[in-house]
Amino acid sequence: MSRAKRKIDHIRHAISHERDLHNHFDDMEVVHQSIARLNFDELKIGMKVGELNLSSPFFVNAMTGGGGEETKTINAQLAAAAKETGVGMAVGSQMSALKNPEERKTYEVVRETNPEGIIFANVGTEASLEQAREAVEMIDADALQVHMNTLQELIMPEGDRDFSKRLTSMQKVIDGVGVPIIVKEVGYGMSRETAETLYQMGVRHIDIGGRGGTNFSKVENMRRERALSSFNNWGIPTPASIMETTIHQDMYVFASGGIRNGLDGAKAIILGAYGFGMAGSLLKVLMNEGQNALIETIHQVHQELKIAMMLLNASSPADLQGVEYVLYGHMKEWYDQRIH
Ligand code: FNR
Repeated sequence: MSRAKRKIDHIRHAISHERDLHNHFDDMEVVHQSIARLNFDELKIGMKVGELNLSSPFFVNAMTGGGGEETKTINAQLAAAAKETGVGMAVGSQMSALKNPEERKTYEVVRETNPEGIIFANVGTEASLEQAREAVEMIDADALQVHMNTLQELIMPEGDRDFSKRLTSMQKVIDGVGVPIIVKEVGYGMSRETAETLYQMGVRHIDIGGRGGTNFSKVENMRRERALSSFNNWGIPTPASIMETTIHQDMYVFASGGIRNGLDGAKAIILGAYGFGMAGSLLKVLMNEGQNALIETIHQVHQELKIAMMLLNASSPADLQGVEYVLYGHMKEWYDQRIH
């Protein structure tokens, strides 16, 4: 099967696989405050995230790695929507474009479409320092996402098996690439131990990419003759992973994985995140309803975020951090056993 065909398969499976009925953000309720003190029209949603100045805490997360006209069109549409709404955007893995220069245009189109926007490059943990630099240069990126996806690789028949040298090569990238690094998961979440190791390596931005949304165990199992379904529910749910990883004041957590709307995003910030990303659900809107619907969806996420801010008297997203909330069910058990 060609790489381009594999990527399109991925997209189809990623937007169509069965979602869990339960989303762990529903185990969290924010304490409503009746007395409003702010003017909705004056609310600001800009956010400083470590070295990054974002006009919104929301961003379009990494999707559609690999070449082909179809992925190039998708990237151009995502970039146009990000430009129109003033949000950041991560491109999908650039690893195959680093090996096949004819695929570079799939990514270059993102910077061409949105010359002034915040754009994150994306490579795997196997990338060398030279490859990481080239990925950044390809799209004049503001930061570099380095994704960790061990379980996805293990389920893929053609996936990587040897991770014994990954930390060594990641350290070279962290030390030498020259733009902020965002180490990221792809839907299995990050633990406190992972965050601590990354912190010791000098990483100051992570995207915890937790369980609850796009599920790469299910996506890859849809492509296997004999599914390894026992791992379909592996991983740390997104809210739990935010609680696990907000351990250092100067380590900035982006939340992603199953974020459905601006209220989930506000909850992520309340738990300590500095930003939140959506991938699969945005792609689904784009593929099924088109670019205008995607733009409307992003506007709605901002509106929901601002309604939550208004109700909690938070004049900026940063003011949401630490407001009162209550946990139930799975998240309360996680909190009791792991956090306190
Ligand atoms: C992804 N994701 C992803 N992540 C990454 O770091 N590099 C990549 O190349 C890709 N590719 C990719 C393709 C498709 C089709 C999807 C839907 C997702 C993972 C993505 O950035 C995100 O971490 C997860 O999808 C979880 O977020 P959602 O989808 O639940 O909002």
